[in-house]
Amino acid sequence: MAKRYRVAVLPGDGIGPEVTSEAVETLRLIGEIRGFALDFTNYPFGADHYMKTKETFPASALEELRGQDAILLGAIGDPRLPVGMLERAIISGIRFGLDLYVNLRPIKLFAADLCPLKGKTPEHIDMMVVRENTEDVYAGIGGFLKKGTPDEVAVQEMIFTRKGVERVIRYALELARSRGKARKLTLVDKANAVGAMDLWTRAFEEVGREYPDIARDHAYIDAACMWMVKNPESFDTIVVSNMFGDILTDLGAAIQGGMGIAASGNIHPGRVSMFEPIHGSAPKHAGKNVASPIGSILAAQMLLAYLGEGDGAALVEDSVAELFASGKLRSAGTDSGVGTREQGELVRDLIRQRSVSPK
Ligand SMILES: NC(=O)c1ccc[n+]([C@@H]2O[C@H](COP(=O)([O-])OP(=O)(O)OC[C@H]3O[C@@H](n4cnc5c(N)ncnc54)[C@H](O)[C@@H]3O)[C@@H](O)[C@H]2O)c1
Repeated sequence: MAKRYRVAVLPGDGIGPEVTSEAVETLRLIGEIRGFALDFTNYPFGADHYMKTKETFPASALEELRGQDAILLGAIGDPRLPVGMLERAIISGIRFGLDLYVNLRPIKLFAADLCPLKGKTPEHIDMMVVRENTEDVYAGIGGFLKKGTPDEVAVQEMIFTRKGVERVIRYALELARSRGKARKLTLVDKANAVGAMDLWTRAFEEVGREYPDIARDHAYIDAACMWMVKNPESFDTIVVSNMFGDILTDLGAAIQGGMGIAASGNIHPGRVSMFEPIHGSAPKHAGKNVASPIGSILAAQMLLAYLGEGDGAALVEDSVAELFASGKLRSAGTDSGVGTREQGELVRDLIRQRSVSPK
């Protein structure tokens, strides 16, 4: 009997629905080619749903998501609502609620034209960033004293736990090993100024000793930003705390071609995990067929790899890479001159060609 996977789809707001639709069609095509079935369940959460029902993200939905094999998210956020309200309820609700402790960000350049850095080509930019996804200043420990007065005090705690730090370092070491490339893991932190980060330094050394085949490297976050621009080829796999990782991965998106091309996975190995493009809902571009669906299609590619459908994932990634390398698509911005729908079709045409005559 053909394998079946249950996939929850949350298209969300703004450009979310139109890019997600291209990702879902691409997943369907891979299922047909590789001989597996996908049962999609759509969830309406987002701004329109909230305006109609006053519901952000109910606890029952989180329980339903636990029963799925994977989740595909579009984008959440709408200027009609208070800043961050839906984003915190839905995105953070899922990340924290399902304990998705790895934020995995491939940073891969498909064509030199996409890169704003002088002289950098695909051979220079191919790294994986593993960002801790459940702790740090995002853990929600903080508050205000005497809010709104001249004596106001605001506090937000940077929380790291031994368990949280160790499990994400271990994931990154395993990833560096499975990539089988430079076999190097770089710890990025600010332990010279933030004393609590000594926990990262010690855990990295102790867990790292169990992986003698993986070289351990280190960079402070400020220097890492500089190296990312100057010598991106010096990185293979990076492990980084939540807030510094948030910033570093946007820089990573810029050097791989922009917000429209970057994808991420929110992962708890062995459990239901969530995949999404890194961009937001870009409200001003919604419904105009100008957004790039590539980030969402690459999120679908990561979802396939997570489900164990590595051949299908490779078909997607190789087709996207060819689209850019051949110059059929020159940008992942809104200026590409190729519509959202048409870009999705170009990717699927290449997938069909490759599946008939693999290169
Ligand atoms: N994971 C998420 O759902 C997520 C992530 C970031 C921001 N947001 C939310 O999205 C809303 C808009 O945020 P923002 O404007 O800061 O960031 P954004 O990523 O939505 O858009 C910023 C700019 O990036 C470009 N861009 C983004 N996606 C693109 C695509 N697919 N193709 C082409 N160009 C693209 C556009 O020029 C756009 O104006 C806010 O409500 C924010 O909170 C959600």
